[in-house]
Amino acid sequence: MKNEILNLLKREGMISDEIDDANINDFADLIEGIGRTEKEYIKSSEISKCLKTRYVGKNLYVFNEVSSTNTIAKFMSKNGIGNGSVVIAEKQMAGRGRSGKSWESPLGGIWLSIILTPDVDYSKIPLITLATGVAVAKTLEEIGIENPEIKWPNDIMINGKKVCGILTEAITNFNTIDHVIIGVGIDANLSIEDFPKELQNTTTTLEREIGRVNENLLIKLFLEELEKIIELFNSKCYEDILKEWRKRSYTIGKIVEVKKPFSKSYDAYAAGISKEGELIVEKHDGTLEKVISGECLIKKMN
Ligand code: BTN
Repeated sequence: MKNEILNLLKREGMISDEIDDANINDFADLIEGIGRTEKEYIKSSEISKCLKTRYVGKNLYVFNEVSSTNTIAKFMSKNGIGNGSVVIAEKQMAGRGRSGKSWESPLGGIWLSIILTPDVDYSKIPLITLATGVAVAKTLEEIGIENPEIKWPNDIMINGKKVCGILTEAITNFNTIDHVIIGVGIDANLSIEDFPKELQNTTTTLEREIGRVNENLLIKLFLEELEKIIELFNSKCYEDILKEWRKRSYTIGKIVEVKKPFSKSYDAYAAGISKEGELIVEKHDGTLEKVISGECLIKKMN
């Protein structure tokens, strides 16, 4: 993290190129200041205008270019930036995806991370990811996407192609969760050619589906949806969240290939989703299993 913070400050001309040995926390105010200046493409003034939330997005930090908004959000949360604050970047140089993969983040997409401080234990973290997926899907419905679906656990799909990914990370102190960073990447005003060849068949963008979108409005709508669903989460209305998720599920009822870390992958029928947000699969021998993490590839429609 240290190099990423120092590089950001150097790029912005805030510290000299020679500095490589410093306590990065001393620079938290500088980072905050950079995030508060108005940018060209994503404008915090536009997002804040008429933002109907109580706390999500009330504190907005927008950057031209960062390594990863999750990393910056993590740094900021350790330096006193609190619940509901949002870090947005116009471009990420080292965007991170799930399972250690990289995440393509050119100019034109929406790359943001929300800092939350929920009072929960580990077992509930997957539900926050599912809730965020529902918030993204509802936002896409509001701007005219007809049938956005959620592929377990966290990919938002349009007509079978991925348009958004979510990476949730917990910041812990011994056994307690200090903060949860929810990273959301939406392929908004991008064309398929902006992606590497190997992703072009499985990816779509909002521009391709419905034409160019107003990214500031989209962010505002998403933050509003997110706050609503996080309130449900905080009130422990987990079943309400799962109901919204199930309505939009791309996975349930299909044959999937379950790929878990460090074990052999297998095919199974995606039967449902548990109270904790795990995928329940039925194996060939009829036994049921809960899948908590890992990849899940859709094999074929049932
Ligand atoms: C996935 O693999 O599907 C998750 C992708 C998450 C990407 C977002 S973009 C904003 C935030 N910053 C990151 O580095 N990753 C997340």
